[in-house]
Amino acid sequence: MSRRPGRPLYSGDVTISKSASAQAIPIAHRVNTFSYAIRNIVGEALKVEAAGTRVRYLNVGDPNVFGFKTPPHLIAAVERAMRDGHNGYGPSAGIAAAREAVAAELTANGFPMSADRALITAGTSEGIDLVLSALVDGGGEVLVPMPTYPLYTAVLAKLDARAKFYRTDPSRGWQPDLDHLKSLVTPATRALVIIDPNNPTGATYPTSTRRELLEFADRHNLVILADEVYGDLGYDGPIEPLGKLDPDAAIITFSSLSKAYLAPGWRTGWMGVGRTPRLDTALAAIKKMADGRLCSTVPMQYAVAAALLGDRSHQPIFRAELKTRAAITVKSLNAMPGMSCAAPIAGFYVMPQVTLPPGRTDEDYVLALLRATGVLCVYGSGFGMPAADGFFRIVFLAPPDELATIYGLMADFTKQYLAKE
Ligand SMILES: Cc1ncc(COP(=O)(O)O)c(C=O)c1O
Repeated sequence: MSRRPGRPLYSGDVTISKSASAQAIPIAHRVNTFSYAIRNIVGEALKVEAAGTRVRYLNVGDPNVFGFKTPPHLIAAVERAMRDGHNGYGPSAGIAAAREAVAAELTANGFPMSADRALITAGTSEGIDLVLSALVDGGGEVLVPMPTYPLYTAVLAKLDARAKFYRTDPSRGWQPDLDHLKSLVTPATRALVIIDPNNPTGATYPTSTRRELLEFADRHNLVILADEVYGDLGYDGPIEPLGKLDPDAAIITFSSLSKAYLAPGWRTGWMGVGRTPRLDTALAAIKKMADGRLCSTVPMQYAVAAALLGDRSHQPIFRAELKTRAAITVKSLNAMPGMSCAAPIAGFYVMPQVTLPPGRTDEDYVLALLRATGVLCVYGSGFGMPAADGFFRIVFLAPPDELATIYGLMADFTKQYLAKE
């Protein structure tokens, strides 16, 4: 494409002139539609910190930051891999031992999987990026829960594709609104994202709901992206994968070492592509896309078999710690006037709602809370919620005494905030 000097490259963004050296390098339009509130908000927290207030970071779901330790046998597996010289590139779909372990894990959990349909990725995040890139064209639509984990909207923005949000209902424990979901399908719809257990709500879906979701996707020939990264973190035990209900459904399941294996910085995850022949072309397309980025970090892949086939004694301990924190969180929040919070069933997040004064947004509340108390949460509109509805997300991984302090600060602040208006 030829460009005339002085003609804007993109509407209203950047102008190319003869004296190009004086101009900023132009950026792509999609940057303007890409946002990631969980990290964007940190800029504001740094300012608060620079002004002398201690910031309590409840924005990122990283258990290691709060003292939870990566199991030593996983560290040993990575260390051994490095010492044994596994420091070169690996196969783009992942090393055989890791893929076999993923297949064995899914099969044991009721979703039969062969190793050639398992891929190792740089976290769940890269898996989702690869799959959406392989399956959704620009202009394509993907059904995404509201609230959503913002990775989905970020990746879809990159692809010039569209997220269509289906509501989930806080008054029913954040269950999906199936009628709303059904009303959103168009000929451009390509996929259905199901985050179960859910971030940011902590919900998991009962069998009846899961069945309806499966039937709906089947009826419209949609692939299901089953984000099951919190599957091992149900407070009363692991949550079954969606694929168990129908191993022949067009489901691609995702998980990683980040949450239930306490190694988010390793950026190591996996996907399992369901056995149905309807997904064969998709599998080939995903593998082709995976070739383009060579491979995910090789030494860390050696921890996958150690994790999935080895000792998991850290998990019941972690689940119990989460259950205690969830109970403190829900009780403290629901005791605050103007605040309500549905109880989570898994994971380490809740999405409470504060009844905002007219004209205020969730971001106003979260920023005011941060500036007054140093407590950093993420506003609900960063997860796709309407800004006036007053939702925000809390990561409740801090120790119970720290949580008690945090909720004390939040209660005092919220009382004043709501009284002032
Ligand atoms: C629902 C959900 N999906 C995916 C991810 C990304 O995880 P990973 O570290 O495996 O890329 C997260 C991380 O918080 C998440 O909450």
